Amino acid sequence: MANGISVFNAATVTSAQGATITDADGREWIDFAGGIGVLNLGHCPDEVVAAIQEQAAKYIHTSFNVVTYEPYIELCETLCEILPHGKKTKAMLLSTGAEAVENAIKIARQATGRQAVLCFTEAYHGRTMMAMTLTSKIDYKTNCGPFAPEVYRLPFPNFYRYSAGASMEEFVELELEHLENSEKNVVDPRNVAAIIMEPVQGEGGFNPIPQKYFEGLRAHCDKHGIMLIVDEVQSGFGRTGHWASWQHYGITPDISTYAKSMGSGMPIAAVLGRAEVMDSAAPGTIGGTYMGNPVCCAASLATIRLMKKININNMGKNLGKLIITRFIALQKDYSEIGDVRGIGAMIGIEFVVDSDPQKPDGELCKAIAERCANNGLIIITAGTYKNVIRILSPLVITPKVLEKGLDILEKAIIHETNLKRNK
Ligand SMILES: Cc1ncc(COP(=O)(O)O)c(C=O)c1O
Repeated sequence: MANGISVFNAATVTSAQGATITDADGREWIDFAGGIGVLNLGHCPDEVVAAIQEQAAKYIHTSFNVVTYEPYIELCETLCEILPHGKKTKAMLLSTGAEAVENAIKIARQATGRQAVLCFTEAYHGRTMMAMTLTSKIDYKTNCGPFAPEVYRLPFPNFYRYSAGASMEEFVELELEHLENSEKNVVDPRNVAAIIMEPVQGEGGFNPIPQKYFEGLRAHCDKHGIMLIVDEVQSGFGRTGHWASWQHYGITPDISTYAKSMGSGMPIAAVLGRAEVMDSAAPGTIGGTYMGNPVCCAASLATIRLMKKININNMGKNLGKLIITRFIALQKDYSEIGDVRGIGAMIGIEFVVDSDPQKPDGELCKAIAERCANNGLIIITAGTYKNVIRILSPLVITPKVLEKGLDILEKAIIHETNLKRNK
């Protein structure tokens, strides 16, 4: 196996159900990683497994470019219904999040006839060449260049880290000034095809964009005819209590991207957008052999049906309230917990030294994640400095398993911070 493939946990799965994984040694793990935000509906929901089996027995692949099939059309219709982009919405299907990002950029370029793309620090958009160029963290791109040209970066308005005592209002005003100044000192807006961002950054540390900044970004795009692309690959499908986090903000993008939990683990992704924007891509310029594979479409349709039936968005909201309340209470006694934040159940816990947002404590965060693993809880970190614990448990986790997992996490935080204090 190639050295460049990193592995978080040494366990080897033999079966998995709901929020629990069983490994080859018969050990049970509580899963707070959900395959990196893919399993909002949990491992192997019966309805999704049945849909996969039924579709696989009918036909597995034709390539939609060669012979079309109904599940592709039905999934596009369903997505356009739950994620409307203005009066008329159109969709295309793909296999991975990075592929969705690549195609979103190609569509925006064709829609505007422009080339430049603005993205943000702490952004993560995948590992293919354009997606990796848009990704901020250097660890993901060391020695992988040359990168795609005409990509420019703005500072992400990370209120916790960079507000330096300013109020939210003052902070956003300043950040919007940076955006406006970018017209003079970063790139001519007349050349900008798109601004791409995650309303709640995933890999970057679960940083939610401030409401007023998002509004400012929308206004900036409207003023200059720039396409606003919102990447919902990690934040979509119930995680923030909505189908997409832009619905939480009440701001509609021109184009948006989805993957992960829309397929319960099957490789399926989508780009959605205003019909006239989507239609500006010429035939043949977007797509791929496996785009919207029939078995993956069937899995995604069953996923969305079940999500609607159990009201996954409410589940996301309720789970989030429970988790955030618990760790905000713990923060009162542990100044090492610099911030507990998120929207819905997309909750991050940030660790710092001396309550200083400028002093990320990746070492403590790593020790906590390792202690969790030793006690049977799979949890992953995030952030440029790997100092944020991100909770991505299935939203359908039972109260008992949730409680057990949160207990392990809380005890690990207490144990490791006390150890560090006594050093
Ligand atoms: C916001 C965001 N965009 C894009 C991607 C890339 O998705 P994939 O790994 O399916 O290519 C990810 C993956 O973590 C992501 O979180």
